[in-house]
Amino acid sequence: MKLRAVIFDAYGTLFDVHSVALLAEQLFPGRGEALSLLWRDKQIEYSRLVSMSSGPGPQGSAQYRPFWELTRAALRYSVARLGLAWNEGTEERLMNEYRHLSAYPENREVLAELKRRRVPAAILSNGDPEMLEVAVRSAGLAELLQHVISVHPARRYKTDPAAYALGTEALRLPAREILFVSSNGWDAIGATWFGYTTLWVNRGGLPLDPLGTEPSHRGRSLRDVLPLFPPRTPASAPAAPAAPVTTPLPSTTGLPE
Ligand code: LAC
Repeated sequence: MKLRAVIFDAYGTLFDVHSVALLAEQLFPGRGEALSLLWRDKQIEYSRLVSMSSGPGPQGSAQYRPFWELTRAALRYSVARLGLAWNEGTEERLMNEYRHLSAYPENREVLAELKRRRVPAAILSNGDPEMLEVAVRSAGLAELLQHVISVHPARRYKTDPAAYALGTEALRLPAREILFVSSNGWDAIGATWFGYTTLWVNRGGLPLDPLGTEPSHRGRSLRDVLPLFPPRTPASAPAAPAAPVTTPLPSTTGLPE
């Protein structure tokens, strides 16, 4: 099977969601890591809760709300659950940190190499368009991505097929010809079930969820994407030079123009 494009998950895959632990540790000494882990778990739990709590329908989930709101709700819950002192200023500092998460260091070189190899690259994320816009631009990745796709128009979160379908629609390719890359085990499995060829970038060395589904490929860093898109040999290259693949970001983010 020839792979023709690549889609990346954002949070946990390109952006380090636990980079907030540093600030959390300053604010709540000895509890930073616990806060960061619970915050992430609750955020994902809420995304499933709102996605699953209404039947199928073209309008998406009636309980849908943007990922930014779920992220804030998850933070409030986690602070309360861990018995930490809440105040508005602390919440804003942590939310602002979340808006500017660190990007993993190898991202840029991998995305730049994919661009050199003329492989279209995109993001498909639960993040809402504004969150993604800020994260992508502050990491300096915008010109390396053809599409930044938020699930927001579907009003359903991954692992709902309506969310994964936004990737195949944007790239106009069958799912199996797209490599879907995620560091989140659940996302790698959900994308495999949808039909994507998948790479689970298991940064944390975690066990695979034992649900009887194996992602198509496993790796430990984003660099493991590159061997799946070998550079074209002169014999396989087109006779005439192809048009550059990446042009300014089309507005698939759903962002206001
Ligand atoms: C994303 C999160 C959920 O979709 O990892 O970017």
